[in-house]
Amino acid sequence: MPGVMRLSFSIEQPLWERLERLVQEGHYANRSEFIRDMIRDRLVEREWKENEEAVGTITLVYNHHTRGLSERLTHTQHHHHEVVLASTHIHLDEDLCAEIVVVRGLARTLQSLANHLRSEKGVLHASISMSSTGERLA
Ligand code: NI
Repeated sequence: MPGVMRLSFSIEQPLWERLERLVQEGHYANRSEFIRDMIRDRLVEREWKENEEAVGTITLVYNHHTRGLSERLTHTQHHHHEVVLASTHIHLDEDLCAEIVVVRGLARTLQSLANHLRSEKGVLHASISMSSTGERLA
């Protein structure tokens, strides 16, 4: 059974009064139960966001002299062809390359692809930028 942590926090009186009302209206046994439920709600909300469709870019910087790396990166992109829309390769200098991969799919799938590409030996940096596809913004 997990241990129980105790915590205290400061809150302005008007907010405190609203909190008390929420606890009463929600028929919670006590404030702790309400706070626990609120945290669970936030976790579910985050999970839901990870299931949202997103559009984004994954930017990789790597040394093309690393044996087999270019092929492995291409292989991984082919394996995820359903979310990879396009990619652009930039020769930064004699050794280094940047690859910008345009992606669209479930946010967690895109994050997983970025993690996969980042974990390839020889990749010096990988970043992901995601935006909503806009369907839920209107
Ligand atoms: Ni290059």
